[in-house]
Amino acid sequence: MSTAGQGRSGHVIHPAVDHAPPLAVRGEGIYLVDVEGRRYLDGCSGAITANIGHGVEEVLEAIRRQSSRLTFAFRSQFSNEPADTLAERIGALAPGSLRWLFFVNSGSEATELAAKMAVQHWQERGRPEKTHVLSRTVSYHGITLGALSMSGHVLRRSRFEALLAKDATVPAPYCLRCPLSLTYPGCALACADELQARIDALGAENVAAFIAEPVVGAAGAAITPPRDYYRRIREICDANEVLFIADEVMTGMGRTGAMFAVEHFGVVPDLLVLGKGLGAGYTPIAAVVATDELMAPIRAGSGAVLYGHTLSANPLSAATALAVLDVLERRNLVDNARERGAQLEAALRRLAERHPVVGDVRGMGLLLGLELVADTDLTPFPPSENVTARLVRHAFERGLLIYPASGALDGAGDAVMVAPPLTVEAAEIDALVGMLDGALEALEHELGRPAAQRA
Ligand SMILES: Cc1ncc(COP(=O)(O)O)c(C=O)c1O
Repeated sequence: MSTAGQGRSGHVIHPAVDHAPPLAVRGEGIYLVDVEGRRYLDGCSGAITANIGHGVEEVLEAIRRQSSRLTFAFRSQFSNEPADTLAERIGALAPGSLRWLFFVNSGSEATELAAKMAVQHWQERGRPEKTHVLSRTVSYHGITLGALSMSGHVLRRSRFEALLAKDATVPAPYCLRCPLSLTYPGCALACADELQARIDALGAENVAAFIAEPVVGAAGAAITPPRDYYRRIREICDANEVLFIADEVMTGMGRTGAMFAVEHFGVVPDLLVLGKGLGAGYTPIAAVVATDELMAPIRAGSGAVLYGHTLSANPLSAATALAVLDVLERRNLVDNARERGAQLEAALRRLAERHPVVGDVRGMGLLLGLELVADTDLTPFPPSENVTARLVRHAFERGLLIYPASGALDGAGDAVMVAPPLTVEAAEIDALVGMLDGALEALEHELGRPAAQRA
């Protein structure tokens, strides 16, 4: 029987069905420990989720406390204190009038809900024909059918195209490989203006919303647009009466060095979507945050919403998320994300100088990405070479977890994300970078492209 990755372990369906990954038994700070006592530096917070690190006692204590009182009270029969308080706290932190929260259990449910809320907003204003939700060609909004329909993620869509309702059509702000073959700032944000072209093609009267990740995550390994990009997007949305949904499932709750990534860009969305870092891996919880203006016609109109899940706003998850937020605030982890993010980014740039496979370093705060290339002219590797998976494996063998993010180039293209918990300390960044250096060296050796000599 397998314990640490030699084969099957029972009947859980793993990503590679017959190859069970190691059996994790403990989490301690930025480390995970498997059943054989091997420690892994969590250089990507799992799936960019474990924002406060593993095994934080205050959170475990809050879970125990809430469990002994109330774990479930159905939301149409009762409200509960933890969910009420969490909504108040997030609403107070969010910019503008974003203060109305609906809780769900995953990021995918939350992005779908945001689309539904946008559509209901227009229905309540007597505009039922506004139903299209536009999204970008390099994007990921979730794995359920509605969320995947909005996602520009070729690999994750590929088997299920027949079930998907829509396609993602707005070019991504991918300056390294501009889809319009332009260069910033000479491009004058032509990729943002493409949103206008897509709205025109459908007719603004038929478009409900545009959804985008402020920094592209799983589909693009921290593709970060120019700072003025979202102001243009906001202007286009306003001019066309199209709602702007910021999908901050990955970027929210401090990950980029601001509580919400939209703050870096000086815009307020109509709907803000949170997940991952909200529960930080301690509980399944996600949320949509809506503005007063978004909610006003719903409140004045039907006054009712027909969405939600059995466990939406359950008190145990809400209490857990509150404890996570307490840790985030008490330990100034948003500031730490900015400071340690700058250290990590500088170190990754130094790695890129020595490792020819690293074609780009990008991102914000502790959400950083490396794009892997075959040549100095940024030629991508053929997908058959599985370069992303090989780098992830080399890192894993050295006890480092990094996140694969291949496929931004129509299914091709290799990239990884480096995004440790926001609790990471300076010495731990050094350890992470040392292991990554070794993994890159092993990859380049395998590819027959040795790293430059150390200075
Ligand atoms: C930006 C973004 N939106 C939505 C999702 C989907 O979240 P979940 O996996 O919790 O359903 C993800 C997950 O990676 C994400 O990164």
